[in-house]
Amino acid sequence: MASSQAMFLALFISAIAFCSRSVDANIATSMYFNWVNPLSSMTNNGNNLQLALDNTSGSGVQTKEAFLFGSIQMFIKLVPGNSAGTVTAYYMSSTGNNHDEIDFEFLGNLSGQPYIIHTNIYTQGKGNREQQFYPWFDPTADYHNYTIHWNPTEVVWYVDSLPIRVFRNYQSDGIPYPNQQGMWGYCSIWDGESWATRGGLVKTDWNSAPFIARFSNFTARACKWNGQISITQCAAPTAANWWTSPVYSKLSYAEQGVMKRVRDDYMIYDYCQDTKRFNGQMPPECSKPQY
Ligand SMILES: *[C@@H]1O[C@H](CO)[C@@H](O)[C@H](O)[C@H]1NC(C)=O
Ligand SMILES: *[C@@H]1O[C@H](CO)[C@@H](O)[C@H](O)[C@H]1NC(C)=O
Ligand SMILES: *[C@@H]1O[C@H](CO)[C@@H](O)[C@H](O)[C@H]1NC(C)=O
Ligand SMILES: *[C@@H]1O[C@H](CO)[C@@H](O)[C@H](O)[C@H]1NC(C)=O
Repeated sequence: MASSQAMFLALFISAIAFCSRSVDANIATSMYFNWVNPLSSMTNNGNNLQLALDNTSGSGVQTKEAFLFGSIQMFIKLVPGNSAGTVTAYYMSSTGNNHDEIDFEFLGNLSGQPYIIHTNIYTQGKGNREQQFYPWFDPTADYHNYTIHWNPTEVVWYVDSLPIRVFRNYQSDGIPYPNQQGMWGYCSIWDGESWATRGGLVKTDWNSAPFIARFSNFTARACKWNGQISITQCAAPTAANWWTSPVYSKLSYAEQGVMKRVRDDYMIYDYCQDTKRFNGQMPPECSKPQY
């Protein structure tokens, strides 16, 4: 144990030379429009973004840089009123057939009906790992902190600093983990009326368009990816680089307790409980602890 930890440390320390750590903290300097709707814009010196969806187009942005590990924060204020059929997305993704992806998606609803916070993770091109939650607040009334925390040993989805989901690294058990490919950060809004609101039951009401989602205070406390396939290229475990440190890679007991409460009270779908969908052949990570 001690010697393997020492080896891990040595690997990290030898990697400092390759590391390019960054804190990108402005939407306009870190991101660009990859999907344009003329009603979308960046304001407030590039700290704020509004993405629009109407009957002509959705819209989206992505980061200029790719990252390998980090804690990537976005404050989001979702489409108010009748947002049924709309999907607002905030996610990390690599490119190519065997891509990795870590998702937050927000499924709109009729006025006064609850949004769904939809999460998923793809590793080596394979997803089908959905978990969904009702928010415990009105996500359209104000901005809330949605953070994707991604290090060599776990991925954590945080909402206002409460962990709602963990995907741990069980690569040694043959379960692929996202640690080989840099990921870009993305935000978008699109029409998901065929799927989003109760399986397509409620369609988008275009009379309520344009639908506007607002984003603010983007911060990527993250390592820029240098294009190499290596988990050791990222930062050394110092206080400033806490997200990559094996020492800090597991939720505290207090955080585990919080996560359990949130999941007990607000989780409405868990792929690991959906035995019918998987015909009893549950994905292997479902039988492993996730915290
Ligand atoms: C889109 O919406 C505008 C404004 O409501 C309307 O004038 C236009 O006809 C619509 N276009 C399509 C293709 O539905
Ligand atoms: C947002 O949440 C993340 C994860 O809990 C946290 O590290 C970060 O400090 C939060 N941001 C703010 C501004 O509170
Ligand atoms: C919308 O509201 C209905 C009724 O409360 C609920 O069943 C559903 O889960 C909500 N969310 C979505 C995205 O459909
Ligand atoms: C964004 O950060 C600024 C400066 O720290 C703060 O004043 C503002 O309240 C933050 N906005 C949100 C939506 O958290």
